[in-house]
Amino acid sequence: MSTMTPAVDPARHVTLVEVSPRDGLQNEKVMLPVDVKVELVDRLSAAGFTRIEVTSFVSPKAVPQLADAAEVMSRIKRVPGVRYEVLTPNARGYAGAVAAGADGIVVFGSASETFSQRNINCSIAESLERFRPVVRDARAAGVAVRGTVSCALGCPYEGAVSPEAVARVVRELVAMGVDELSIADTIGVGTPDSTRAVMHAVLEHMDVNKLNGHFHDTYGRAIANIGACLDLGIRCFDASVAGIGGCPFAPGATGNVATESVLALLATRGFETGIDAKAVEGIGRWIRALLTQAVPVAQ
Ligand code: HMG
Ligand code: MG
Repeated sequence: MSTMTPAVDPARHVTLVEVSPRDGLQNEKVMLPVDVKVELVDRLSAAGFTRIEVTSFVSPKAVPQLADAAEVMSRIKRVPGVRYEVLTPNARGYAGAVAAGADGIVVFGSASETFSQRNINCSIAESLERFRPVVRDARAAGVAVRGTVSCALGCPYEGAVSPEAVARVVRELVAMGVDELSIADTIGVGTPDSTRAVMHAVLEHMDVNKLNGHFHDTYGRAIANIGACLDLGIRCFDASVAGIGGCPFAPGATGNVATESVLALLATRGFETGIDAKAVEGIGRWIRALLTQAVPVAQ
């Protein structure tokens, strides 16, 4: 009798990037202590996540909740095989990420000019120029790079965003050499139809295996949109336990799609992730309770 573990069918495997420590917390007014953030990351790696967005190396004035990025990174328990990723808006953020030993970085752009200005204080074209040396250096150092395109399905300031506008930014990021691209519905206005339209436009410029979907769930459509992506062959999604999250620069945007709901969808459709759904439920209850208890922490 063979004792070998059955091989995972790659076509039935979906990778989830757990973004609660970063996207989940960045908009929370209750300042969580470093201990809680470290415990969150460690519980996520123990639950089987292989990719975790831990924090952001951004201006502490812009995102006070993540001002402790370096300390959090230095205290997490590194589990072999887990990729610990961080957001880096510019060369300074990249230097912080490298010093902290991040395995992957995220350069985050936008398909909307106004959102780009509000979020990272520069135009789309300027943002791409800021990303270029960061992507080059990360690639040379063997650090995984993903590019994110925000407002791919709509903008809180400009309204509709065309798939062509998204594809333009995608083309630039692909040419720069990012390993992976994340198409983000920042304010949750996408529908399965508009999601399919934007993904089709993007897939003209890149391989489906490098595509990731990042959906906020403002109108309860994130799961349907992920379903549409699965039909297109997309096999990587961001999610956040208990659906926590939002962007401080996207008024009205609520949380990311809940990891619990994504796991349920994937199980129903016969996909596997290697993630312990029961453990995720426990983590979700724990972090949600902490956030609703509103424990102020001395700054
Ligand atoms: P800027 O104004 O162009 O940069 O900001 P600057 O060089 O003029 O510096 C401004 C201040 O920031 C200075 O400090 C710098 O030292 C400091 P001051 O002199 O005012 O005290 N600074 C930094 N500090 C720490 N780390 C750095 C850094 N760079 C400059 N790396 C900048 C540009 C991007 C830095 C700023 O606008 C910023 O930090 N924005 C935060 C953006 C952010 O984190 N947004 C949320 C994440 S994106 C998101 O949620 C969307 C996503 O989930 C997908 C989706 O849903 O759409 C990914
Ligand atoms: Mg987001």
